[in-house]
Amino acid sequence: MRRLPLPLLLAACLSTSACVSLPIYPFVTEEDTARHRGYNYAQDNCAGCHQIGYQGASKNPQAPAFGQIQRSYSRTGLERELDAVSEVGHFGMQPRPISPTDRTDLATYIENLRRP
Ligand code: HEC
Repeated sequence: MRRLPLPLLLAACLSTSACVSLPIYPFVTEEDTARHRGYNYAQDNCAGCHQIGYQGASKNPQAPAFGQIQRSYSRTGLERELDAVSEVGHFGMQPRPISPTDRTDLATYIENLRRP
């Protein structure tokens, strides 16, 4: 079989969307997306004090790493705790509204943290 020159092959590949999207999208679940948003939220709002990874030192030595928070709460307990953080603030953090979506994303992120 005659081989196609590479640019032609790439063009053919890009013009059939299946070629581009099939290998990627079936493996990205809604949960992955929520985790990713939760990570970004934590990075922006919590990482100033907490280690938002599973373990390791927090910037504020009194703030537990998120892995420790994961081990301390059930999913329901975690969401309740996040509501409390949102309503009354905690330990130098001002109260700030955490929307229901952000709360779910954060809880999903924390719940799925894995020991490295
Ligand atoms: C200004 C610093 C600061 C920021 C910002 C901060 N925290 Fe904390 N947080 C702390 C400290 C300090 C503790 C530990 C206090 C203790 O247990 O004595 C804590 C504890 C917690 C706990 C555990 C509470 C408990 O009693 O078990 C949760 C859950 C929590 N933080 C969530 C968050 C989330 C989610 C964010 C981001 C939206 C956040 N924190 C941002 C300082 C902070």
